[in-house]
Amino acid sequence: MAHADGASTTAPLQAGHSAPIAAPTKEIRGFSHMVLEVQDLDRSERFYQDVIGLDHLGRGLLAEPRPHSLMKMNTGQLIVLIQHDNPVPIRPNTSSIHHAFLMTMDEYEAAQARFKAAGYDISDTREAFRARGEHSMDVFDPDGHRWQVQAFSEEQHEIIKSGQGVVDCGPFDKYRVGSVTTFGKANFFLYRSRRGFLALNRWCRHANGLLTHQPEHWRFYCAFHGATYNMEGDHIGHLPDIPNLRLHPLSINADGHVLVDTDVFIERPADTPPEYVPAPEPALAAR
Ligand code: FES
Repeated sequence: MAHADGASTTAPLQAGHSAPIAAPTKEIRGFSHMVLEVQDLDRSERFYQDVIGLDHLGRGLLAEPRPHSLMKMNTGQLIVLIQHDNPVPIRPNTSSIHHAFLMTMDEYEAAQARFKAAGYDISDTREAFRARGEHSMDVFDPDGHRWQVQAFSEEQHEIIKSGQGVVDCGPFDKYRVGSVTTFGKANFFLYRSRRGFLALNRWCRHANGLLTHQPEHWRFYCAFHGATYNMEGDHIGHLPDIPNLRLHPLSINADGHVLVDTDVFIERPADTPPEYVPAPEPALAAR
């Protein structure tokens, strides 16, 4: 396989049933180029240049016998348009095969204005499935290739207050050891372990998606890009460099009620265990 810098690797990337599977590497830096078959080169060049905003480097620049055109992103990565009388058929309006451009928010807003001026629908038909700081829209090129255009705004790392202030969760002894209770309006989880109570904020640290509790997996899960956290809020999933969940200060008052202050957020550094608030001793001993 060719790398972006032209080097090659002998490691098998796909193994048959009896072939050894190569150990995962971190050699790939990004994709070098992508080839799309199109019916009409003029039409497609106009789309990728005027609507998407790519640079047109020229035609016939590659050792490719068919008419072709080279378009460049501002990352230096290339899209090669190759004219073909019968391009690979595309299933319209499906997301099975599609491509996505990633932009800064400024670039995204500029693209929105350009798409709109060109008569494209810039609404996000899947807005309900986006994390808080995630923006996305779709455009289709003249041959029906679906392009998703994405950007992540500052909102993805904003601290979001629920506006619920101090929440009285009721008597501590109604929560059994090992239980997790979701406070939906106030957006926190109340977790009771043998060591005591924790109040974990529900906003995912990747891009502010709202987490759900998955009791069958003993974890918190974000459906937006699949982040997972253990019961103490440590990120345990596949995404790189995700901080632990934020905590809220918690106390147990003289009446034995658990109080959670949702206006205050505690950042817990990696490798620093959370501070549990123990249940009152006499009741604990009575269990
Ligand atoms: S917002 Fe991306 S995984 Fe949670």
